[in-house]
Amino acid sequence: MNSAPNTPAPAKLTPHLGLKGRNTFGLDATAELAYDISAPEQIPAVMGEILTQNSVWRVLGGGSNVILPTVLPGVTLLMNIIGQEIVSSDKNATVISVGGGVNWHEFVAWTLENNLPGLENLALIPGTVGAAPIQNIGAYGVEIADYIHSIEAFDSKTNAFISLSKEDCQFAYRDSYFKKNPQRFIVTKVVFQIPKAWQAKIHYADLAKYFEGKPTPTAEEVFLAVCKIRTHKLPDPKLIGNAGSFFQNPVVPNEQYETLLKKYTGLVSYPDAPGKRKLAAGWLIDQCGFKGQRMGEVGVYEKQALVLVNHGNGTAQDILGLAKCIQDKVHNEFGVSLEIEPNIL
Ligand code: EPU
Repeated sequence: MNSAPNTPAPAKLTPHLGLKGRNTFGLDATAELAYDISAPEQIPAVMGEILTQNSVWRVLGGGSNVILPTVLPGVTLLMNIIGQEIVSSDKNATVISVGGGVNWHEFVAWTLENNLPGLENLALIPGTVGAAPIQNIGAYGVEIADYIHSIEAFDSKTNAFISLSKEDCQFAYRDSYFKKNPQRFIVTKVVFQIPKAWQAKIHYADLAKYFEGKPTPTAEEVFLAVCKIRTHKLPDPKLIGNAGSFFQNPVVPNEQYETLLKKYTGLVSYPDAPGKRKLAAGWLIDQCGFKGQRMGEVGVYEKQALVLVNHGNGTAQDILGLAKCIQDKVHNEFGVSLEIEPNIL
């Protein structure tokens, strides 16, 4: 019997797929088996197969927040669900549904072209729309959580598609319900709610400085400013492998912050939850003298100490070795533990 006209073809399977071009660190990794997921309907059959074979599995989006081993065993799902559509629009907000495989930056640009400002502070963040809510991407005073309506995903625990409300997603700084439950959900679509009321958010230090004397820029101007600042500070993965911020900014109790501040008057920090303070990890690492340092094939970026880079032939071990050196030195100097941000697969 022929399948229904709207049923997509089964997901394409490729054995031994090279992933060097699919991870921004530029690590030479091979996926044992890779499925190209271009429609949500393909997922149940693929997950059924994974269950039958008892394989390990993971989803790979833009590969911008992962550290890959030389061989990725089991099954790698390449998230390639694309497309975006305006679901509804009223006087308060526009709701847009976007495929998990859409490139994040291209989506941000599309919202501006369609006169839907709000996400411009998140321009040029590498990766896909589907990966963005998992670590609740944020930059220049905006987090994606502020604009999420709901998330559509396949739940491998119940073998069913679900829709999670923003509250269900439990968003926090670089954290979410998806991150707390790894190996469970495959994000297929992200539904955004973009309020009609808009005001430029330029309170973050770099942007405030950029717009000194011009307090009311347009969304396009903010978008261009963010692109300029990021390009200047962060290495282009096409030229030098990296995964953006390598460590999270650590949050410490106020007492520890006060003690540190007495000793290090230049300490950079931000307010956080009551009784807590978020420290700039880049500043801590910089103070330990790591900026621009090289350790074999890997190193610390010369313009931003929070970014580790692959100079060409680095491996996951090389990167994690350097990360350990940094964590140890920062801990010895400041008594602060740094958490690695990208997912180690
Ligand atoms: N700093 C140094 N030396 C450095 C780096 C930073 O002294 O080598 C100081 C800076 O002078 C600044 C402070 O540390 O006073 C904070 O640095 P920056 O403004 O560059 O931002 P960040 O805290 O390092 C965070 C995000 C970035 C995001 C920027 C802009 C985290 C872990 N990182 O970086 O996110 O783009 O703010 O909002 O929260 C990412 O997650 O991949 C990422 C790039």
